[in-house]
Amino acid sequence: MAIEIRPTGGALGAEVLGVDLARPMDDAAFETVRRAWFDHLLLLFRDQDVPAARQAAFAARFGELDGVPGWRDKHAAGEENVLIISNVKQDGEALGVLGDGELEWHTDMSYIPVPPSVSMLHAREVPETGGDTHFMNMYAVYDALPADLAEAVRGRVLNHDSSYDSSNNLRPGAVEVTRACDAPGARHPLVRRHPETGRPSLYLGRRKNAWIVGLEDAESERLLDRLWAFAAQPEFAWFHRWRSGDVLMWDNRCTMHRRDSFDPATRRVMHRAQVKGEVPLAFEPEAA
Ligand code: SIN
Repeated sequence: MAIEIRPTGGALGAEVLGVDLARPMDDAAFETVRRAWFDHLLLLFRDQDVPAARQAAFAARFGELDGVPGWRDKHAAGEENVLIISNVKQDGEALGVLGDGELEWHTDMSYIPVPPSVSMLHAREVPETGGDTHFMNMYAVYDALPADLAEAVRGRVLNHDSSYDSSNNLRPGAVEVTRACDAPGARHPLVRRHPETGRPSLYLGRRKNAWIVGLEDAESERLLDRLWAFAAQPEFAWFHRWRSGDVLMWDNRCTMHRRDSFDPATRRVMHRAQVKGEVPLAFEPEAA
């Protein structure tokens, strides 16, 4: 069956038809998928019955697997590069991570020096309602910035706090941050150039304890508030209502995502593979 790429019609994303991820993919088919991923930022494959090892093998075609550092005891059976994201408990022990609560807008692991390029989720069990995941197109946000905001972010670097996770919980071993400018984490260009497409995107990471390096605390907060308010407009976002068997992969270099909470009495089990990216590059408008 020929591969068909069907755009969502929203701010980002496309469905890929004609692919069975449980089977090896030839180079031509892979190149079609890779190109579509660059064009649409996020790809959806429905009805996939794909074992964790095959999911990892598919993800590995995009680069070195990341193994989701820090959560090594929550991987899928026999596949240490596939993390379980779940609210399910077995004998009182959490099967995976991230529970049933809301996850705020974020980009995966932007608080490390080399953040991941690909995140790939395979929905194995999902509740009938809730737990939808929302995505934001950060190329589109940057392209639409009003002139004063585009000027204000030019050449700026952002400190990405590593102490809190996207459920707003302090990470194990982290201490509470009182001033954003003192937060531990990694520093990356606020406007990032995609290494494959060359396109600029706004690289916000997450809001809590973010700091624009070199600005006074209040000035940094004011500018970040304006940027986040601008980015949060519905025209830049699209959301996914999961069906069991869905595989969704997104490009962390030019998207953000958030998740709705769901009923703790229901089960949600996702398998996540992640690919190492590269040190984020600054976008130089005059070099474009
Ligand atoms: C995540 O933020 O990586 C998890 C998203 C989800 O559970 O839908």
